[in-house]
Formats: sequence, structure tokens, C-alpha cells
Amino acid sequence: MKKVHNFAKSILKLKLMDKLKRTKIIDLINSGEYGKTVNVKGWVRTKRGSKNVAFITLNDGSTIHNIQIVVDLNVIKEEDIRNISTGASVSITGELIESPGSGQKVEINAKAIEVLGEADPDEYPLQPKKHSLEFLREKAHLRFRTNTFGAITRVRHAMIFAIHKFFNDKGFCNIHSPIITGTDAEGAGEMFRVTVLDLINPPLNEDGTVNFKEDFFGKETNLTVSGQLEAELAALGLSDVYTFGPTFRAENSNTSRHLAEFWMIEPEMAFYDINDDMDLAEEMLKYLIKYAIDNCPDDLAFLSKRLLDEEKTKKQEERSPMELKEKLLFVLNNDFERTTYTEVIDILKNSKPNKKKKFRFLIEEWGADLQSEHERYLVEKHYKKPVMVTDYPKDIKAFYMKVNDDNKTVRAMDVLFPQIGEIIGGSQREENYNRLLKRMREMNVPEKEMWWYLETRKFGTVPHSGFGLGFERMMQFITGMGNIRDVIPFPRAPQSAEF
Ligand code: 4AD
Ligand code: MG
Repeated sequence: MKKVHNFAKSILKLKLMDKLKRTKIIDLINSGEYGKTVNVKGWVRTKRGSKNVAFITLNDGSTIHNIQIVVDLNVIKEEDIRNISTGASVSITGELIESPGSGQKVEINAKAIEVLGEADPDEYPLQPKKHSLEFLREKAHLRFRTNTFGAITRVRHAMIFAIHKFFNDKGFCNIHSPIITGTDAEGAGEMFRVTVLDLINPPLNEDGTVNFKEDFFGKETNLTVSGQLEAELAALGLSDVYTFGPTFRAENSNTSRHLAEFWMIEPEMAFYDINDDMDLAEEMLKYLIKYAIDNCPDDLAFLSKRLLDEEKTKKQEERSPMELKEKLLFVLNNDFERTTYTEVIDILKNSKPNKKKKFRFLIEEWGADLQSEHERYLVEKHYKKPVMVTDYPKDIKAFYMKVNDDNKTVRAMDVLFPQIGEIIGGSQREENYNRLLKRMREMNVPEKEMWWYLETRKFGTVPHSGFGLGFERMMQFITGMGNIRDVIPFPRAPQSAEF
């Protein structure tokens, strides 16, 4: 009799598992359908319990919140859950109930549990305790299962969506600019070569140099540093376009704000001057921040608390004066300061940290490039709001920027943010054929190879402008993460290309 009973029970179990479609935790939390039998699948965060009852907290990545599973050991055999530990994946069917505890809204009284994949506790590296971000970077294959990377990844997705929505609503066309290119858009020579040539024994010209005519494309090619030049071509026909793609820079900067592979949003607009360009940049940044506040409240609340805890471990003088939400509102609620390079050089020259030699790079004269310490001083200490700096010396900016009448400065604009420094770099472009050609010659930009770029200035040229937003720098700002390697799933940086 008992056998038959058990048999019937397992059939019932199987049927429960079979029929029920899985519901995501986020939907269970919001469903309110108490008493309903549901199925949930996910990864175990913790398991604890006593003789009669066990508690499993489960997360499936749909939300920062876990769901608690109550396992009555009179209903489910202890041996069925013995191999469940942190990191294991399980499928659980049970009754959704309103949680009597204060920590969560709902929980599940388990009726059937299936272990999908065990995670040997002696080997599984993510234990239910705080791991350092450095440690998690080495476990990038598993860090999606942590609260921090779950939250960052969901916010990152929301921002990608919001960027496309922002431009779509304004009638911009998204352009896929090429990733393999023969040109150095920024002229900084920081490119990764793309080749199929045998590096040990390459084909040579008579003078001993490498014969790239024999390479795959019949010429030298690289990974692109920017989609701008191609975006310009598209704008000079479609008016308003933007690119959003990966860009690559072989600069050997081992900093918390540089990646060798990062994503950039580059709008390019015909008939825009630099002021229109700045208006759009400010509108876009505020739109994205508002979108995050409105659409990612739980993840931002978690990240804000994480940041507070992290700040507590720092020395008083190194702590950020603002909480995450405050920082976001600081940008949202302030008109950005618009000023010129010449003005800020004056401010920096006479600033306390410059006079007391506290800057790592002292500002001595007009012409110096701004470092992030200067940019942050301007935003955080001097203006106390986001800053847009225009009219930089032409010698420290790219060849395509429009030269001002003073013949010393160009119509560049950088947007500077708290914590980050430069978040956007942009400019009005040189639309005059002869002046562009002159700049290219002055800066040794190969004019022959860029015949197509020059031709757009020969046929129906128009004033136009654009800018580039570093997506990961934006993500750092929105999430409060100090290191850029923690806001992209698989960071690429000098000596680091694992995963
Ligand atoms: O100032 P940049 O070099 O400007 C351009 O590439 C232009 N073509 C943009 C345009 O006008 N269409 O780069 C733009 C932004 C920077 O402000 C910064 O936010 C980000 O890209 N950026 C990086 N982010 C991460 N790692 C790096 N190595 C970066 N280099 C630039
Ligand atoms: Mg720049």
C-alpha cells in the first residue's frame, strides 16, 4: 500500500514539474497570487535549516531580490536536498505565500525540488560572504551570480535600451560603423593591428619593410578607435545618425578609467554647430540618468548601499562627499557650466592644489593637456556642477576639429563629470575642404587614404558636429563603481584578456 502511495506521489511530483511553466522571481514578487502553485528556477545563494525545516534563498538574475524557499522536511526528504549548497542550480515547485517575515514580500512552500546542477562547496569559489572586486574580476565567468554584477548588468542593459530609445525618439538613424578600418580617426596611433600575415616570416618589400599588399585586405588595417569618420559620412546624407559600437585603443593606460576595448556612443548631426552639440550632449546625459532613476530603483538602491559600505572603509579625506543618488541628482538638477579652455587654465593655475603642488601634473602654461585630476577639481571643487569646456588648443586635439578664427583653438567640447573627469569628447567638424586639407597636412594625416572623407567636403558640405560618450565611463558614474573593469562583463586591459 505504502509503495503504491509513494508511486502516486512521485507521479504527482513529475506532473507538477512537467506542466508548470517557470515564473521569474521578479514576476513572483509582483504577482500577489498567493496560494497558487508555481515553479521557479535559479541558483542557490544560501541554505540553512534545522531538523524539521530548511530555508533556501534563490536568485535567478531577474531582480536583485532573492526568493526564500521553505522546505518542510516532513514533505520533502532531507536526502533530496542534501546536495544543495551555495551555487547549485535548482527547480522548485511549490505554493506561493505571502511572507510572514519582514525582509521579503513572498516565499514559496516547496512541494517538489529538483537539483539541476550541484556546486561542490569545497570548490565553488563564491561563498555567501563579501568577496573583493579584485577577486571577482578573476572569476568573471561566475561573477554574474553576485548581487553587485547582477545589478550592474541589469543597469547596463537599461542604459543600452535608453540610449537607443533616446535617439530613436528624436529620429536619429543608428549606423553600424566598421570595426576593421584602415584609418586612425583620432590620429593618436594607438591601434591594434589586424593581420593574417605570418609575423615570424612576413612578406617583405625590396627595402625590407613588410609588404602589406599581401595581407588580407591588401593594405594595413586596424581595429577602429572611433566610428566618427563613418558616422560623418552618414550624417551628410541622413542628417542625424549615431553609432554605438565597440572601439579599441592600445594605449598603455592601466587606470581605473581606461579599457583597451570599450563601447562608445557617437551621434553625428548635420547643420549642428558646437552649441547645438552641447545642448544635445546635456539633454542625453540627463535623459539617461533620469531613465536609470525611474527604471532601476532596486538595483540603484543596492549599488548605493554598496558604495556607502565601501566608502566607510576609506580614510575620511578620501571619502566621496555625495551618496550615489545625490550624485545622480547633482547632474540631473544642475545646468552644466559652459566655459572655455583658456578660462579653466587660469582657474587651475591659480588653484590651491596647483600652488601647493598637490596635482600630480602641475599646470604651468596655456597649452597643457587637462588630466582627470584637473577635470575633477573643476567639477567637484570649483564650479560644483558638471562642466563643458570648449575651445581647446588645436595642438592637443584631433585633425577634424574646426579651427577658430584665432587660429590657435578648435571648436572642441569636453564634458566633465564628478568622479569621472572627461565623460564626453566632441566637436564641430571642419567642413571647409581647403582648411581640412591644411590641417591634415599639418598633422601628417594620410590625405590619399582619406580621399573619401575629403570628398564629402567637396560635394555638398555642411556645418556638422558630434560627440562621443564613453559608455563604460557613463556606467561608472551611474553605478558608482570606482573601477571601469567592474562595469563591463569581460574587461580588456593591458596584460588582461582572460575569458
Ligand atoms: O575623446 P575621445 O577620444 O573622442 C573620440 O573618439 C571622438 N571620435 C568622439 C566624437 O566626436 N565622435 O573619446 C570619447 C570618449 C571619452 O570622452 C571617454 O569617455 C571615452 O570615449 N574613452 C574611453 N573610455 C574607456 N577607455 C578608454 N581607453 C577611453 N578612451 C576614451
Ligand atoms: Mg577626449
